[in-house]
Amino acid sequence: MTATWLAFETSCDETSVAVGREGCILANLVSSQAKLHAEYGGVVPELAAREHLRNLPAVARETLAGAGVPSTALDLIAVTQGPGLPSALMVGLKAAQSMAFALRKPWYGIHHHEAHLYSPWIGGQPLRARFADFQPNVALVVSGGHTLLVRVKREFEHQVLGSTLDDAAGECFDKVAKLIGLPYPGGPVVDQLAAEGDPGRFEFPRPLLDDATDEFSFSGLKTAVRYFLRDHPELLEEGQALRDLCAGVQAAIVEVLVTKTVRAARRLGVKCVTASGGVTCNTAFRRDLQMACSAAGLDLRLAERGLSTDNAAMVGVVAERRYLRGMPAGAMDEEIRLGWELPICG
Ligand code: KG4
Ligand code: ZN
Repeated sequence: MTATWLAFETSCDETSVAVGREGCILANLVSSQAKLHAEYGGVVPELAAREHLRNLPAVARETLAGAGVPSTALDLIAVTQGPGLPSALMVGLKAAQSMAFALRKPWYGIHHHEAHLYSPWIGGQPLRARFADFQPNVALVVSGGHTLLVRVKREFEHQVLGSTLDDAAGECFDKVAKLIGLPYPGGPVVDQLAAEGDPGRFEFPRPLLDDATDEFSFSGLKTAVRYFLRDHPELLEEGQALRDLCAGVQAAIVEVLVTKTVRAARRLGVKCVTASGGVTCNTAFRRDLQMACSAAGLDLRLAERGLSTDNAAMVGVVAERRYLRGMPAGAMDEEIRLGWELPICG
């Protein structure tokens, strides 16, 4: 059975469309709205939806042309169905359902975190999904919307070990950046500044680091930075202090993520760790997780930087696996799924 797919991802502020066939990614375009939202210091949901509406048809046309695939050759349509920004998700979902209806093909609504979860298994040149290498693993999904630790016993068999009780790690990066006066999205800017900072100069709390559970919490860290800046406003005027501050906050977030992920893998006797989601782009995170995994004798699969942030390729790859396994497709009257929990099985 062949499976040529077209995938849409519009859950936040990236308009992304991808085309793939039998595990190969033929095209994966991402049109970012980050500049537009930077003016407001964060994503404005209605603006995001309007931009998706404006851009999606052109991005889809360009992706199909780049892949050299006519729409008549598609076997299925994939789309992020949730969680995400409601109006933004709706644009992708309605586009997917309309195309599926017009082409008389099935459509698959994919959970956004499940798409991130399998993105470490996509790689190489040319880009392809390498599920033949799949091993049971502990997966960290760490983005602007979520911080999730999952045990993946086999493909599509998930046990959520823990998640964040409040802010996601990426949200913490972004909120701290905003407090310091850095542009949105703050994560990449903090990463850049931290590269020239001293992580030991200012010490920040490591929330729930020694907690016995696999839960995370990052809002206290953000509050600690707020109080710290209230007490030392002069530091905001000093370039090196700002870089040291970024390095200190980053070190706290990274230590919690790395320690809890490796600890869970060791406790469960799992030999492989994966990490995905926007925060996986962070330089210190990639370095420290690699070092911790090597020290613990764990295989590490990190999503490639280009596939860590939101993209449609990861959505299409999961949909293709579901389609080939004969899993049920979506119905035409289905809506976006906002409070959708990560599917446990299947
Ligand atoms: O996965 P993603 O593109 O969208 C969501 O599903 O949320 O992740 C975006 C998040 C943002 O919070 C952004 O600041 C963060 O990932 N991020 C980073 C870096 N690159 C992106 N955080 C820290 N360091 C980075 N280099
Ligand atoms: Zn995401």
